Amino acid sequence: MKKYVSKYLNGKQYYSWEYDEHTNFKHRLLGCYLGAWFPILSRYQDLNYFDGFAGCGSYFIDDNEYPGSPVIAAKVWKDRGRSGKKLNIIAIDQDQEVCDNLSKVLNENKHSSIEYYIEHSDFDNGIKKLLTSTSYESIRPSFFFIDPFGLNLDFSTLTEIMKHKKVELLLTFMYDGVSRCIGAESGRLDSFLGTKEWRELKDLHGIIREDSVMDLYRNQLQQHAQFVWPYKVHSSKADRTLYYLVHVSNHLKGATTMRDCFSSINHGRIEYLGKSNNQLSIFELKEYQVSEVENYLRRNCTGFEGSYNDLLSLIIDATPYQNQVLRKAVKQCEKSGRAIVQRVTSKQTGIDKDDLVKLV
Ligand SMILES: C[S@@+](CC[C@H](N)C(=O)[O-])C[C@H]1O[C@@H](n2cnc3c(N)ncnc32)[C@H](O)[C@@H]1O
Repeated sequence: MKKYVSKYLNGKQYYSWEYDEHTNFKHRLLGCYLGAWFPILSRYQDLNYFDGFAGCGSYFIDDNEYPGSPVIAAKVWKDRGRSGKKLNIIAIDQDQEVCDNLSKVLNENKHSSIEYYIEHSDFDNGIKKLLTSTSYESIRPSFFFIDPFGLNLDFSTLTEIMKHKKVELLLTFMYDGVSRCIGAESGRLDSFLGTKEWRELKDLHGIIREDSVMDLYRNQLQQHAQFVWPYKVHSSKADRTLYYLVHVSNHLKGATTMRDCFSSINHGRIEYLGKSNNQLSIFELKEYQVSEVENYLRRNCTGFEGSYNDLLSLIIDATPYQNQVLRKAVKQCEKSGRAIVQRVTSKQTGIDKDDLVKLV
């Protein structure tokens, strides 16, 4: 079990955990995405935010306090949620002391449009119980932040969640732990990955094993959701993967928004390489990405005929690039005569949604 360094900040009745760079990165991504998700989804309905491994609710660097994930959801909702609508924040943690601390933190973040529920339970059992209880209508759109520190999560729990169609998931996938278990041939992986197929990967090494594991996990999730993308987060100290943040959604808008958020908090990059790893300028990077996508379209999509959104669905699922990069690439193709665009949604030179694209 991970040991957290904690302290009481001046004047606080609750403790905070020491904040590290990678938790901060994860939190910025969460905040950015919820900032877009809340206003769109709360237009007509109340929303649920589930925090599966909720934590103590507060972090520190020196004498400054930073919010934990359930508190980030509350703060973003206060700024971006629609008036007259409600957010239920359901926080689950298996540690009673952590739950008690979180309860004190949430008490300081009360708001008339937010209801808090703290469930002291392990995630697998707690969530299954909540999903079958009548007070959580399955029709209400729900965002799940699932942030385990290791392999303490059953794939069957994820499939149970994904039966509800209006759900989105952001989950932390600790690749190192998985790789170690493959080496040790641990049966724990059967329930974590929801398949026994990982045994075929045990003779693979390095990046080939890593890519194969991520393909396997992604494929598992894709049986239940349309868009699944694992965002890679590197360790800053060593040149290795620290974890993946896997986004699971049934909506193109969700998939493109997460891509935009990841890129915007990461200087235009689609893998987080740690604070000090910023070699290319954003301008160089975007130019490079546009020509990459153009090449991808030439190699894989010649003959495509359909709406721009259909093409975007293909690209978001198959490449790490953003909507704006695809749009530029299609425009370049149009200029060079490799794309014919018939404007339906856009006026004049734009390219969007229902515009018809033919790649020749
Ligand atoms: C990485 S921390 C969560 C941090 C939090 N999500 C945030 O970003 O602020 C992991 C938390 O999961 C809790 N935990 C560990 N195993 C769990 C399980 N099986 N079910 C629920 N909570 C668990 C731990 O007590 C710890 O508070």
